[in-house]
Amino acid sequence: MVAKAKMTVDKHFTIGEVDKRLYGSFIEHLGRAVYGGIYEPGHPEANEAGFRKDVLELVKELQVPIVRYPGGNFVSGYNWEDSVGPVAERKRRLELAWRTIETNEFGFNEFVDWSKQANSEVMMAVNLGTRGVDAARNIVEYSNHPSGSYYSDLRVKHGYKEPHNIKTWCLGNEMDGPWQIGHKNAVEYGRVALEAAKVMKWTDPSIELVACGSSNIGMPSFPEWEATVLDHTYDHVDYLSLHQYYGNHDQDTPTFLARSIEMDRFIDTVNATCDYIKAKKRSKKTMFLSFDEWNVWFHSNENDQKLDPWQIAPPQLEDVYNHEDALVVGCMLISLLKHANRVKVACLAQLVNVIAPIMTENGGAAWRQTIFYPFMHASIYGRGTALVPLIQSPKYDTKEITDVPYLESIAVHNEEKGEVTVFAVNRHLEEALPLEVDLRSFEGFTLLEHIVLESDDLKAYNTSATPNRVAPHRNGNATVSDSIVNANLAKASWNVIRLKLK
Ligand code: AHR
Repeated sequence: MVAKAKMTVDKHFTIGEVDKRLYGSFIEHLGRAVYGGIYEPGHPEANEAGFRKDVLELVKELQVPIVRYPGGNFVSGYNWEDSVGPVAERKRRLELAWRTIETNEFGFNEFVDWSKQANSEVMMAVNLGTRGVDAARNIVEYSNHPSGSYYSDLRVKHGYKEPHNIKTWCLGNEMDGPWQIGHKNAVEYGRVALEAAKVMKWTDPSIELVACGSSNIGMPSFPEWEATVLDHTYDHVDYLSLHQYYGNHDQDTPTFLARSIEMDRFIDTVNATCDYIKAKKRSKKTMFLSFDEWNVWFHSNENDQKLDPWQIAPPQLEDVYNHEDALVVGCMLISLLKHANRVKVACLAQLVNVIAPIMTENGGAAWRQTIFYPFMHASIYGRGTALVPLIQSPKYDTKEITDVPYLESIAVHNEEKGEVTVFAVNRHLEEALPLEVDLRSFEGFTLLEHIVLESDDLKAYNTSATPNRVAPHRNGNATVSDSIVNANLAKASWNVIRLKLK
């Protein structure tokens, strides 16, 4: 039997307010994310705009407050002007990032419309690969300026009298990566990001900007890239981005489940680098983080190599997620919550079909992948104040990562609703983990429910024919006595223990 794990939380020991944008996501013009995903005119579920209502309903279930668009690698070759105005006049383009044909049938304004129907905000990226300062200021003018200038009047002419008022803008994407169209070194990027930031904010001073950090923790230029980019941009940007994907490439599940510990270290190192530049500049401003791409991504890698180029919306990056992937996503969500004081925006990459919680068939069904559930639970119940998790847990070692606690956990206090929610993953693959949560400073509470995502098979997944093969149940065994919660966390499980404060 595994030794008991214990978590102590106190309502006064807070990490910080959870920004609702921590539960953002991402739609790129890539594969079937747009065409066949959120947009499919002619589908029986399509509304008059061609948006799939079945997909919109699933997106609403996830309560996604912000969606990044239109890339990703795609944005580094994106001519935003191609994607607005009369559809019949829009240009078809060779899309070089993913080697497809982009018809531009669905463009910027359509995405703004779709986001409204999804109850979400837009997080818009500008092209700092093939374009630059001029295109960046023009799209802000088109999007956010009321009227009376060339680009704002063009938007009005295109049928959008009111400005879109997009608040959050990304200064390019993964510009440190040699795969990027218009890849730059840190000084080149730092310079263009600074100049773009200046004119974008001169056009609309109310916007917030995200500068590109490293594409992942393994980049050779990490964290020097961050330091150099911030040296140029610190006073002009509001967030620095992080991206990270994990995969069970070696079929070593204990290591795969421990990857979120690397994510913790990644965030800590980026915070330290931001604070170094803050000190160097004698600045009073704290840089916040935008973890605007994160997920599991590896299942589809081999298949993607086999796809013929220059197709319209081919099935790219269509990872089919299994139960263990959902556990990793759960651990990554807990990692984000543990850093809620600095990570203010995060985007699960992506939202539909492309490494996504929602899958569709062209002309057919839409369903929830395994990773849908931890994301939905965190998005719904993980709002409020993240509390410092003091954890004592039995541990294990893998070849790569040592001292891995079997328990990954955090509690979030929602004062407005009078609720505390404990999120917990048991990383043990063979045994249940007894857990005691001590909530000593909360005066009385009852158990609302204990939701569990477990499976008899770590590799089980959902399909259109078996959409509920992996799905949560509400029959968890948590009990409450005084200020203590006890539960026996099923092996390899994701748990949501919801408490109502008296
Ligand atoms: O999300 C898929 C791709 O991953 C994005 O286009 C890119 O930014 C990252 O490398």
